[in-house]
Parts: sequence; C-alpha cells; structure tokens
Amino acid sequence: MCGIVGYIGNESAKEIIIEGLRGLEYRGYDSAGMALVHRGRILVRKESGKLANLESKITKKEFTGNLGIGHTRWATHGSPTRENAHPHLSADGRIAIVHNGIIENYLELKAWLIEKQGIQFRSETDTEVIAQLLGIYYEGDLIEAVQKTVSRLRGAYAVAVVAADDPDRIVAVRKDAPLIAGIGEGRNFLASDIPALLKYTRDVYLIENGEIVVVSRDDIKIFDEEMTRVKRDVMKVTWDADAAEKGGYEHFMMKEICEQPDGIRETLQRRIGEDGQIKLDGIRFGKKDLEAITRIYIVACGTAYHAGLQGKALLEGYAKIPTEVDLASEFRYRNPLVDEKTLFLCISQSGETHDTLAALREAKRQGARVLSICNVVGSSIARESDDVLYTWAGPEIAVASTKAYTTQLVCLYLIALYMGRTKGTLSEEEAGRIIGELMALPEKAAETLKAEEQIKKLAERYYIKEQIFYIGRGADVGTALEGSLKLKEISYINSFAIAAGELKHGTIALIRKDTLFFVMATQDALYEKMLSNIEEIKARKAQVIGIAKKGNKRIKQICDEVIYIPSCADEVAPILGVIPLQLLAYHIAKLLKRDIDQPRNLAKSVTVE
Ligand code: G6P
Repeated sequence: MCGIVGYIGNESAKEIIIEGLRGLEYRGYDSAGMALVHRGRILVRKESGKLANLESKITKKEFTGNLGIGHTRWATHGSPTRENAHPHLSADGRIAIVHNGIIENYLELKAWLIEKQGIQFRSETDTEVIAQLLGIYYEGDLIEAVQKTVSRLRGAYAVAVVAADDPDRIVAVRKDAPLIAGIGEGRNFLASDIPALLKYTRDVYLIENGEIVVVSRDDIKIFDEEMTRVKRDVMKVTWDADAAEKGGYEHFMMKEICEQPDGIRETLQRRIGEDGQIKLDGIRFGKKDLEAITRIYIVACGTAYHAGLQGKALLEGYAKIPTEVDLASEFRYRNPLVDEKTLFLCISQSGETHDTLAALREAKRQGARVLSICNVVGSSIARESDDVLYTWAGPEIAVASTKAYTTQLVCLYLIALYMGRTKGTLSEEEAGRIIGELMALPEKAAETLKAEEQIKKLAERYYIKEQIFYIGRGADVGTALEGSLKLKEISYINSFAIAAGELKHGTIALIRKDTLFFVMATQDALYEKMLSNIEEIKARKAQVIGIAKKGNKRIKQICDEVIYIPSCADEVAPILGVIPLQLLAYHIAKLLKRDIDQPRNLAKSVTVE
C-alpha cells in the first residue's frame, strides 16, 4: 500500500526520492511527502493527492540536502490530508520518520504521550506516535532511541528515521512490512519495494523481521534485535520494472487474486477481540438503536452489489432486520421507503461511484443513517457516511474487482455478527462458531488458490466457448453472478448467471449439447437440490463443471469435472467459492489474449451516471 524511499549520497536527494516514489505509484497512494536533512535542520514538504503536487512544492533552492526519506501514503488511520501525510516529526522537529504498516496499540501510546509527556499531536495517524516516542527516547544515540521505541510498538511496521543531530545516516527497522536496502557507489538507498530502486541499483539486501539497518554513504550495516551485526548476501534483481510492480505476476488481477488470504486476514484483524467480541472501529449501534431500525437497504453497483446480495441473508439471519439489496442506479429512481428508522448500508471499493454516492445522498436527505463499507480511506462515500467500516484489501488496480469483493464480504459478516450479538438475536455460541469459521478463512483461501493448475487446464479446454452459464442456490446465487460478471468483464464471453431453481422457468430452453455450465454447489443445505439441477442439465447433454466442498463425492460422478474448495460452513462458502471463478475468468481471458487489467469499455471507478 504505502511506499518508503530513502537516499544518502552526494547528489541532491529530492529528485532521487521523487523518482523512487514514482516507481511505487502503481501501489496506489493518496498523499506524498519527503524530509531532507540539511545543515543541522530537517526540511519537510508534503501534499495530498498525486506526486505532481509534491513535486511542485520542492522546487525551491532552499529545499535541499543529500540525505532524505520519502513516502507515498495510502490512508488507513485518518483521511488523506497534508497533515496526515508522512514524514511525521518529533515534537521538537529534529527527528523525521516515514512508516508503512499499522501500529495496533497507537491509541494507548498516544494517550500516554499526551497525558504523561504533554505531547501535542499534529495528525490523526497511528504513525505520529512513533515519531513522538523517538523524540522522547532520543538522548544522542539514534539507534538506541529506535530500539526503545520499537520495544513499545505492537503491529506491523517498516520505519525509516532521520535526525537533524545525526546527519550522516538513515536508520530503519522492520516487522511484518517489507524493507530493502539498495547498494550504490558513494551512495546508498532504502525502500519498501524493489521498483523504487530499479533506476539506481539492482543490488539489494533484503532486511528481515526485527532487524535494524543503518544506511550511510559508504556503508550499509544490518543488525539483529540484540544489535549483533548480521551478514547478508546481496540479492541481484533480474526483473524489469513492469514485472517488479506486479510482484512477479503477469497481471495485477492475478496478483490481487493471490492477495486475498492477506486481505481477508487484515480485514478481520483487530475487529475480533481475544474475548470473541466484535469491534467495528468505534462504530456504535446500541441495542436500542438496532431495535429502532425497521429496514436496511444495501445499495451498491457491480461487484459490490454482488457482495451486498450476501449481506441480506446475513443481516436478516443474525440481526433479524428486514434487508433489501438494491442497485444504486435503480434505488435513486424508485422512491424507496426511507426514513429515520432506515439504515442505508452502501458498499463501494473506490468510494467514488457516482450512482452509489447519489443514492447515499438521497437516503441521507430522507433521514437514513448511513454506514458504508469502503476500501479507499477519505473517499467521497467514506466522507459523507455517518460511519465507515474499511476493507483492508490494499489498493486494487485491476479493473475487475477480486480482493475488494472478498473483503467486502468479510465486513458484512462482521457487521451482521455485531448487530446480532448487540441485539441479542444471535446466541454467543452461534456467533463463536461463525467467528471460528471466519478466522480459518485466510488459510482456506490460500488452500483454494492451489486449484489454479487444475483451473488452467479447464480454461484450455473451454476458452473457445461462445457462452457460459453459472448457476447456484442460496448463498451460491451471488457467487454465480459474480463469477459470471468476472468472465464477461475480462474475456468478453457471453455469460449468464441464474438461481438454479429458475432454470426450468425459461432459461433451460437455451441448453444445447455442449453448452457449458459452472455449477456452484457449496451449500450443504441445498446440495441435493443442486445434484438434481446437474442431472437436468446433463440430460440435455450439456457440460458441467461443479464447484463443491471437499468431501462431496456424488457430484464428481455426475459432473464432467469438479473443483473442490476446503470444507467450511455454508455461510462463509461464498468467500472461498468465488476464488475458482476468478481464476477461471482470468485463465480464459489470458488464453483469449484479452487486456486483462484494463478490459475494453470499462473503468475502475465510474464517476459518471
Ligand atoms: C465499476 C467497476 C466494477 C465495480 C463497480 C463498483 O463498474 O468496473 O469493478 O464493481 O464499478 O465500484 P465501487 O468502487 O463502487 O465498488
């Protein structure tokens, strides 16, 4: 998500840092900044928005130095304003830092810094606590201050530090966030990711968890937690910039499909306490508030709408609140019954989709409380909502949405569980069972991805099809719709999804010999019914690929082939079930040589009606 760059040498640092940050633009960001150390002072420039905004602020002669750190931020804590952009400074302005990651105990540290140390904070970020702690612990030895500071941090971080009183080095440390040091001649570099450095060097050290790295002009020293010097082999980067941006994947879409286990983990993280209580980042609905809600409208577009379809069953099932799901473009024009007892739940990856935003404004005007599920912090939808629960999927670059979808589902589970428990309509035992299922998802999603080889072969067999059908029942209907949308978007194959029970009411007329069906059968409660549907289709000589839970054997006897997902409760199966469909769409589109990341006629964020 965020990017770090550091440079120390004899040239002007600002251009090199900007170039480095440009190499990280593909990761997505919403503000940028840098700090230079010059003649015993730290000079800082930061701006919200694109790098060009920052570039226009660093042209002055006085903003100079040949040592510095830079950052592109993708907002998590606090909106993407200039104040929240990195670098952040210690109270006396003599230490500057940039940080990637999330400090989990920042609230507790912030309270300590304010109450016990009298610190005044200048930003809403978790990062600023690191800068302030460094300021407190710095007594002439920067490394010691870094050690003392990190001993108080919980969470994930890669942090680069410069100090006005220690002007010949950059000190950096990492835990669960990437960090590399780049080797030059008479100059050295730091970065969160290789693409930042490819213009300058291909020789890098990979910094390991817990290590501190000290970068000076002629030297890079790596230390372990006990400050014992570590010897590290140089890694030679052989990829080109394009491949490096995609982390070695051919397309962003595949990278994002594979990032789903992490996205699911991050989105769950810190929302489920050790006591099994759900916490929604400070969003509060008391028992009375929930009892007063007579109706929930889930409103969204595209993939986010498909996530919403799953939300209905969850909210009605756990929280017992009647829920309707609507397309944003329809909701606005159909005079929905909205009043102060309505909860408007909108879902949007970008937070900028015009139809969704317009529907939100209409619902708000009519008195509804607005809760949104968004991936982009500080986006219009996030800003205009009463409450936001963020998906922590990281920036999604491919137009076809994948990791945003699965993390939107995670947020819907969390909201429904929270409401069910608060209202008392969901027992502790039942909630505990579902939470257990959710916690197991990151690993099971990783397991599901292993079906890729099988899926590749299936794609080779079927990519020539002119149309493909998707069917399912219950929670599988939303998954079928989403799988079909993925295929349409990136392969341009005509595809159609329908609730399996509806097949016989018309669509069955389309089945011919060799028509291809992807049949979702992940719902134990509806498994028998799906087997009957498959028989109906097979009787008409069509081809069927089933998607079912491991252990379900009968389906294998009647389908042409079955893709198995790990066994799990029916409720959470949509998160795993969609993964094979994403992979199928991807491999079919690849064989058809489509422009996978930027399909024709589509945009990532549709800001027009
Ligand atoms: C566009 C994108 C879709 C996305 C939809 C809603 O059509 O191509 O991938 O699902 O917008 O976007 P949102 O950002 O609101 O989730």
